[in-house]
Amino acid sequence: MTHSEIEKINVGFGNMADEYDAMQDTNIPVKKMREKFYTKVESFVKSPATVLELNCGTGIDAFYFADAGYSVTATDISDKMLMNARSKGTLKNLSFQKLNLAELNKIEDRFDLVISNLGGINCLSDLSKLSRDVYELLNPKGYFIVSVMPQFCLWEFALIFKGEFKRALRRLKRDGVIANVGREKIFVKYYSPKKFYDYFKSNFDLIEITGLRIFAPPQPASNWYQKHPSITKLLDFIDDKIESFYFSCFIGDYYIAVLQKVK
Ligand SMILES: C[S@@+](CC[C@H](N)C(=O)[O-])C[C@H]1O[C@@H](n2cnc3c(N)ncnc32)[C@H](O)[C@@H]1O
Repeated sequence: MTHSEIEKINVGFGNMADEYDAMQDTNIPVKKMREKFYTKVESFVKSPATVLELNCGTGIDAFYFADAGYSVTATDISDKMLMNARSKGTLKNLSFQKLNLAELNKIEDRFDLVISNLGGINCLSDLSKLSRDVYELLNPKGYFIVSVMPQFCLWEFALIFKGEFKRALRRLKRDGVIANVGREKIFVKYYSPKKFYDYFKSNFDLIEITGLRIFAPPQPASNWYQKHPSITKLLDFIDDKIESFYFSCFIGDYYIAVLQKVK
């Protein structure tokens, strides 16, 4: 990752930081995805445990897990995201640190759990180093629980019928795309569950993988909840029933992968 790429991520996400929490609070799909992520984490790693959070943004999840009794070290590359996270208060079991996902080897502590929520790792063009670093950062039998944007999303693909070809097909680009994030051009790559696990399989068991926002509207279509309340309720219900079916993680907006270090 070049210095200029790092700076674009820092500035681009930083430009979104002030609106980030308000955006998240009003977005029902994001709230539902967070609830799923929390349930997943809490079912595999009980509090108290030590947690390293990657790409923590404004610290929404970091505060959630710290409040639940975990000891959390939360990291991100964006100064402004971290500034806003720190401004939310201090807890003795929560610390924030500026850290690039590509330089996790700089951390000396070891953890029971490493987490990354809402596609931070999609900003990496290759996951080999991440896989090695996360392995080193975990205690024996530790968990890596991560939410990732896959290479195909049913809802996004349906934009083809509205003539939005570029957006509808962007995830399929094997080498990634350049996305506009906070007025900066940032590299994003979508990983199918298979491609993702190929990076991790030598050192991790794949314990579980579930799709998120499969038939129910994803994050950018949150206004559907106001427009079609009964349909979205039904779609949420269907998603809950099918989220662990194999195909779900290939077609939703995100998937959550639960990996466990083999030794
Ligand atoms: C979509 S936000 C998700 C934030 C947070 N995980 C959440 O759930 O709200 C993505 C975050 O990833 C961070 N990020 C992107 N690339 C990164 C990198 N190479 N190193 C560290 N953080 C990075 C951004 O600064 C941003 O805060």
